Amino acid sequence: MQSSTIYRNIVVLTGAGISAESGIQTFRAADGLWENHRVEDVATPEAFIRDPVLVHKFYNERRRHLLNGIQPNEAHLAIGELNKELVESQQGKLTLITQNIDDLHQRAMGKDNVLPMHGEILKIRCKESGQLFSCTEDTSPEDYCTCCNKKGNLRPHIVWFGEMPLYMSEIEHALSQCDLFIAIGTSGNVYPAAGFFEMAKQYGAHTVELNLEASAIGSRFAEQHYGPATKIVPKFLNSLSF
Ligand code: APR
Repeated sequence: MQSSTIYRNIVVLTGAGISAESGIQTFRAADGLWENHRVEDVATPEAFIRDPVLVHKFYNERRRHLLNGIQPNEAHLAIGELNKELVESQQGKLTLITQNIDDLHQRAMGKDNVLPMHGEILKIRCKESGQLFSCTEDTSPEDYCTCCNKKGNLRPHIVWFGEMPLYMSEIEHALSQCDLFIAIGTSGNVYPAAGFFEMAKQYGAHTVELNLEASAIGSRFAEQHYGPATKIVPKFLNSLSF
C-alpha cells in the first residue's frame, strides 16, 4: 500500500466491522445481531412504545458485553495514533464519524474528535428533556428519571431506525472540508452514512474503502483494500505521508 499524496483533512467513517475483532458482533453477518433479533422488535421508536422491557433488555445485553473486558483493537489504536500525530504536528485534522455505539474509539483517541452518529450505549437520556446521563448498569422501564422524577422516561441514547442521526451539521461540515475519506468496516446499507463517500467525493476528496470484503457500495470508492481491520487499517494509515 502506497499513498504519496499529502492529505490535510481526513474523515474516517467506521461501522461494526472495526469492532468485530474486539469481540463485538456485527449486524448483518450470518451470525450477526439482526439474524437473531428483528429490527422492528428492538430498534425502532414503535418497538420501545410497544415493548420497552424487551428493548431495555436488548441494550442491557449489549452494554454488559462491552463492559465485560472488550478492548479497542489495533485498528482503533492506529486511528488514535494518527490523530495524536496530526494534533501534535499540526499537520492536519482527523474527524472520526462512527456508527458504532460502543466506546472503543473514544477509549483509543479521546472523545473530542469522535462523532458517534448512532448514539452511545454507555449513555441514557430523558425522553422529555433530552438530558443525558452516563450509564454502566442495566436499565428498565421501572427506573425513575433523575431530571423529571418520572418512571419510564429514560431511554437508551441510541438512534433507532426512523430517527435522525446525531451530529449531522458537524458531519456535513467535515465532509465539505475533507480531502481524504476512509470508510472502515461498514456494509454500506444504512443511510445517511452510506452516502457520505458521495458527498466527500463531490467536494473533491479521495475515497478509500477498508473492509473485510467489498461492501454494497465498494466499487464506487476510488481505492479499496480488503482484509481484517486489525491488519489493513494500521497498514493503510502508516502508508499516508504528512
Ligand atoms: N474487519 C473489517 N471489516 C469487517 C470485519 C473485520 N474484522 N468483520 C466484518 N467486517 C465488515 C463486514 O464485511 C461488513 O461489510 O463490516 C461490515 C459490517 O456491516 P454491518 O453489520 O451492516 O454493520 P454497519 O455497516 O456498521 O451497520 C450500519 O446499521 O443496524 C444498523 O445502526 C446499526 O450502526 C449500524 C448500521
